[in-house]
Amino acid sequence: MGGSVITDKNTYRTFREDPCRKIVRSLLSFNEKLMITHGAGSFGHILAKDSGFPKKFNHGDEHNFSAVHRDVTDLNSMVLEVLLEEGLSPVSIPTQSIFHNKSQDYSSFKRYMNMGFTPVGFGDVLLDDGMIRIISADDLLLGLSSVFKPELVIFFTDVDGIYDKDPKTSSGAKLLKTIDRDIAFHEVINDVTGGMKSKYEKILEIRKHSGKVVVMNGNNPERLQNIDKDEFIGTVI
Ligand SMILES: Nc1ncnc2c1ncn2[C@@H]1O[C@H](COP(=O)(O)OP(=O)(O)O)[C@@H](O)[C@H]1O
Ligand SMILES: [Mg+2]
Repeated sequence: MGGSVITDKNTYRTFREDPCRKIVRSLLSFNEKLMITHGAGSFGHILAKDSGFPKKFNHGDEHNFSAVHRDVTDLNSMVLEVLLEEGLSPVSIPTQSIFHNKSQDYSSFKRYMNMGFTPVGFGDVLLDDGMIRIISADDLLLGLSSVFKPELVIFFTDVDGIYDKDPKTSSGAKLLKTIDRDIAFHEVINDVTGGMKSKYEKILEIRKHSGKVVVMNGNNPERLQNIDKDEFIGTVI
């Protein structure tokens, strides 16, 4: 669940509960084992940017680091509340516990999922090798995909999918309904910018590990019902 959907990205610490709940409901209808990661949106990026993160850690950075961590943890609690209310049994796996000196440990996700829980990861700040890093929900999806080889990976964001150019700044941008494994990725890469650029680079990796990757609008998650049909609105990779 992209931070662009579950928060108002321009207003510090603003949760958008409605789209979050609708996304969760759309996933429930699948009746499949789920792992969820969510972005930080305005609970992370605004203060992280003001603090100059990511950066080399210096003493004095602790306070802002902890404030960002507190904010994204608050968002995570709100997401957990929605998941609980919708009948799932979520357990959030701290990003801090996943990363150890360049290696990543996702075993907690498996342990909880196998017992019927829904493991939840979330974008957070991380102190690693003297650096303050930002670990995004997209990073976690890449790590999870390489370990668990999922059938389907869904990115819920605030646009209908991947376009040939940024739909927010270019009128006439065209939605790419499918992106072929090898060819089209390279044809569109120069026109992907901002948040979608790094997402797209991670998708290039994720598609090696998963059956299907979908980018779709989290404000219209009911579209998921059409995922295998022609009328599906989104990008299938
Ligand atoms: N070619 C493109 N196709 C789709 N979105 C794009 C493209 N280029 C840039 N973007 C921008 O990427 C944004 C999504 O990334 P981001 O804001 O990081 O969302 P999220 O919070 O879901 O990760 C869209 O709102 C869109 O403006
Ligand atoms: Mg993003």
